[in-house]
Order: sequence, then C-alpha cells, then structure tokens
Amino acid sequence: MAILITGGAGYIGTHTSVELINSGYEIILVDNFSNSKAVAIKRVEQITGKNIQIVNADIRNSDALSKVFEENSIDGVIHFAGLKSVNESIDDPIGYYDNNIAGTINLCKVMNKFNVKKIIFSSSAVVYGNPKTVPIKENFPVSTSNPYGQSKLMTEQILNDIYLSDNDWQIALLRYFNPVGAHESGLIGESPNGVPNNLMPYISQVAVGKLKKLYVFGADYDTKDGSCMRDFIHVVDLAKGHVKALDYFKCQKAGDVLTLNLGTGKGYTVLELINTFKKVSGKNIPYEIIERRPGDIAISYASAELAQELISWKSKYNLEDMCRDTWRWQSKNPNGYQ
Ligand code: NAD
Ligand code: WQD
Repeated sequence: MAILITGGAGYIGTHTSVELINSGYEIILVDNFSNSKAVAIKRVEQITGKNIQIVNADIRNSDALSKVFEENSIDGVIHFAGLKSVNESIDDPIGYYDNNIAGTINLCKVMNKFNVKKIIFSSSAVVYGNPKTVPIKENFPVSTSNPYGQSKLMTEQILNDIYLSDNDWQIALLRYFNPVGAHESGLIGESPNGVPNNLMPYISQVAVGKLKKLYVFGADYDTKDGSCMRDFIHVVDLAKGHVKALDYFKCQKAGDVLTLNLGTGKGYTVLELINTFKKVSGKNIPYEIIERRPGDIAISYASAELAQELISWKSKYNLEDMCRDTWRWQSKNPNGYQ
C-alpha cells in the first residue's frame, strides 16, 4: 500500500517524501512540474537510496490520475499540488481557482471512485487573515482577502463537506505557518523561479550574492523592533508532521476532520531573522527598510498545542538551525535546481 503525494517534486513535497521513506512508507509522486524540476526527485533518491515512482501529470487530468490509482495500490493521499503566490493569485484568480479548487475536486472524485478516503491537505495560516490575538488557535475565526487564501478556505470547506457526507473519510487539514530551511544534506531545498516573494529565499539569495540587497517591508509595526513577526518553521519539522498525521489515521477512533496548526509556537521578527542568518552564514546581508507591503499583518504565530496533543508532533529545530540549513542548501546550490 502506497501513499500518493501530489506536488511531490515541490519544496515541501520533496522533504516530506524523504521523511515518509525514512519512516517505511512506500510513495508515488504526481507532479506537473509547473513549479519544480525532476532533478529534485533524483536528489530525494540520492538521500534515501530508494527509487521513486514519479508520474508527470496534472491533477486536473482525470484519466491520468485514474491510471495512477488503477495501476497502484494506494492507501491515502498527501495533497501538496497547488499554486502558492498571494500576489500572483490576485492577478490570476481564474488560474488559481482552476488549479487549486478544480484540481482538488478532481482528485477527490478519483479518490472516491477508487475508494481511497484518506487525505492530508496543505492548508495555510493565511486562512486566519489578520487575527485579533496571538498565539493563533485552530478555533479562531477564518477569513482571507486574496484568491490564494480563498482557495485554501474553500478547499477546507469542500473537505469538511465530504466528511459530513461520508464518515469513512479520514481528513487532515494542516495549516502551515512560514516554512523555511532545507534538508541537512544540502541536496534539497526551496528553489523559487525568478525573484523570490518570500523572506527566507530572498535573504539567502542576497547572502550568496545573487541579489544586491533585501528590502524590509516596514519597520513601523507595533512589534519589539518595528518589523513584522512570523512563526518560521523548519521544513523538516513540517514534513515530520505529515508522517505523524498518517500515523494518527491508523489508530483514529471516532472520526472528525483533523484541523491542525503546524508552527513552532514562537514568533521572530524579520530583523531577528536577518541577524540570525548573518551570524550563522558569516555573510553580510545589506538591507533597506522601505514602506509596508500591502496585505501584510504585523504578528502571526501559532498555538502549537493541539498538534502535540492529538498527533504527538512538536517542532524540534530552532531559528539558527533553519538559517544554517537554508544557507547550506543555498551555498551548495547558488542557482537552486536550475
Ligand atoms: P511548491 O510550488 O514548491 O510545490 C507544489 C508542487 O505542486 C510543485 O512541484 C508544482 O509543480 C506542483 N503542482 C502545482 N499545480 C499542480 C497541478 N495542477 N498538478 C500537478 N502538480 C501541480 O510549493 P510548496 O511550498 O511545496 O507548497 C506545497 C503546498 O503547501 C501548496 O499547496 C502550498 O499552497 C501549501 N503551503 C505552502 C506554504 C509555503 O510557504 N511554502 C505555506 C502554507 C501552505
Ligand atoms: C514574511 C515577512 C514580509 C519579503 C506568505 C503567505 C502565506 C504562506 C507563507 C503559503 C513579512 C517580510 C518579505 C521581503 C520582507 N504561504 N518580507 N522583504 O507573507 O508571512 O506569508 O508565505 O500559504 O500564505 O502569505 O511570508 O516570507 O512573504 O514574508 O520584508 O523581500 O517578511 O513583509 O513581514 P508571509 P513572507
């Protein structure tokens, strides 16, 4: 019995593939390589010493997906495939809803057809919008102001409705905070196309000399140093959370949709991250403080208690580890997978 990983060639998918293989799971990946490269899978094979079956297909393609289910004995799905840029989603809502919503509906239809009813979905802290207080608990109200965030909320709703209609489904909605870091081997990591939107890959590209300086979006927030605060979580910790969720499914008694934050429970500011990266890498990170980025919230960090209570998962890596591993990956692969 295998676990199908959609979007398995991507940043979180590759790290989760490593952890699943290390935990004894058999895996099959589906990816259309719209935001990834096949070489990433080769690197996962190098780390784990296992051959990996990868199907080059779009999750919106029913025939291709059905073929994967027909030819393999699939026990459950970890669903990473999706587009993930907030800004891009504002420019291209149709593309985002088509990929993220139509893709998920198609996947669920095929799963239903083949009676595969276990799914772990990559949700995001974006669903909390601008929370009134922190730490953010899973029962906080949800709201979001961009198509990317809406696609996460809608998918959560769809999966909740599927569960209500058929209690045989086992569903986990994992809300990631800010994933950063890379596998300790330095063989896999985040490799964005073009200029990165997110903070950590931007910092690491400045450190390696690909970008001249970092622009810090606002230092007039109500935080300890004026810059925004986030819950940065090591991608390997995040990956292990998926293994724990699958393990939980095995002994889950009364069903219910499992909705969990995956974060560390601690917040660090943008300036703290820059300083830590500087210290760990020994590189200078020139930066300039500019105006706020529209849509950013001042402070976001998780309450990580529920994941510990329900699936016995807790993050292990600290901010220095996250910077050290990002730097190892970036310095060994200055151009990512290109
Ligand atoms: P990623 O872009 O590196 O990985 C996504 C993978 O899905 C890519 O390999 C891409 O080629 C593939 N893909 C996209 N659309 C597809 C389709 N229609 N059919 C088949 N494959 C498709 O992104 P990631 O950072 O690994 O994120 C994985 C998931 O986690 C996404 O759903 C994302 O929204 C969610 N998430 C990410 C973050 C983050 O900051 N990285 C935070 C919260 C949630
Ligand atoms: C972090 C902080 C920026 C870049 C996004 C998505 C969220 C989730 C994770 C998918 C903010 C500041 C950034 C830069 C900066 N992804 N920053 N200069 O916005 O917290 O979350 O990624 O689900 O949905 O919205 O992450 O890394 O973009 O920004 O000063 O060049 O760094 O203002 O305060 P964010 P981020």
